[in-house]
Amino acid sequence: MIKTKVTELLGTKYPLIQGALGEVSESVEFVATVCNAGALGVLAAVHLGADGVKEDIHRIRDLTDKPFGVNILPVNPYYDKIIDVCVEENVPVICHGRYNPVKTIIKAKGSKTLAIPSVGSVKHAIQAEQDGADAIIVTGTEAGGHTGYVGTIVLIPAVLRKVKIPVIAGGGIVTPEQVAAMFVLGAEGVDMGTRFMMTKESPLHPNALKALLDATEEDTYATVHASGRHQRWLATPAFRKRFVGLPDTKGKDHYWSFPPFAGKGAIEGDLEKGWVATGQGIGLINDIPSIKEMVESIMTETEKVLREKAKLVA
Ligand SMILES: Cc1cc2nc3c(=O)[nH]c(=O)nc-3n(C[C@H](O)[C@H](O)[C@H](O)COP(=O)(O)O)c2cc1C
Repeated sequence: MIKTKVTELLGTKYPLIQGALGEVSESVEFVATVCNAGALGVLAAVHLGADGVKEDIHRIRDLTDKPFGVNILPVNPYYDKIIDVCVEENVPVICHGRYNPVKTIIKAKGSKTLAIPSVGSVKHAIQAEQDGADAIIVTGTEAGGHTGYVGTIVLIPAVLRKVKIPVIAGGGIVTPEQVAAMFVLGAEGVDMGTRFMMTKESPLHPNALKALLDATEEDTYATVHASGRHQRWLATPAFRKRFVGLPDTKGKDHYWSFPPFAGKGAIEGDLEKGWVATGQGIGLINDIPSIKEMVESIMTETEKVLREKAKLVA
């Protein structure tokens, strides 16, 4: 059993976090299943108001007695009220999308709620630690959804040189060998989004599921033009036609919105008009296990990999 500062901090069986998945981990059943499998399930509070979040917190607690998280994005118009609800309800963890998380950190201080924001650069990792985050999720550019510009293999060591709080590493992580590599780099936990999205319990439309299963590691594209922030998507023919070749703003986000059509790809399966966020790790996925099977097999295999590789020294 792999025990780290993250299992200690979160009280989870495994040092594994299901990164918030807009559209997908908006299902309380999905989140609770992740928690019951021993990882930290995270509700994506993308489209909910404060009352909706409160209701979902109660529904998650009806389905699991394990710790869970709520992820907030500042694009949500009820952002401040949702943070208040999370703290009032003693939600175990508030996660925060790649944007300035200081409000969640301040409000969580002195409460039972842990503030664990996501960052995609060294600069933002240092800032989150200075603001008082309890740990940080650090994801490299391979990650699905909003993402930075530096690859995981460089970003994690670069962040670890600068911060002391536990680092939960993500971005392209799909296999046990990759999970083991994150621990070798010095991470205390691992964040996976795309791998959790590709499970039996995921509410993805069959069209999206098929396109994702067919995709290789070259079939994603990160652009600021789809949502206004640098975000990685499945590069379907329609997506390529619309976004590939537009000028990069080099990290300067010009606006932030949720295009109303984005959900049509993932949930409604309209791949002509809708987009599906995914990471480069999609090219390594060719099965659809249950969440429980996936979590158990990844964590058991990670232990084996770590033991096996230690023999290199002997
Ligand atoms: C479909 C999808 C939706 C996502 N939605 C969110 C979100 O609402 N909030 C957030 O902080 N991160 C979001 N992310 C990022 C994930 O939480 C996670 O950090 C990322 O998927 C990790 O990289 P990986 O996909 O390579 O495993 C999303 C990712 C995907 C693939």
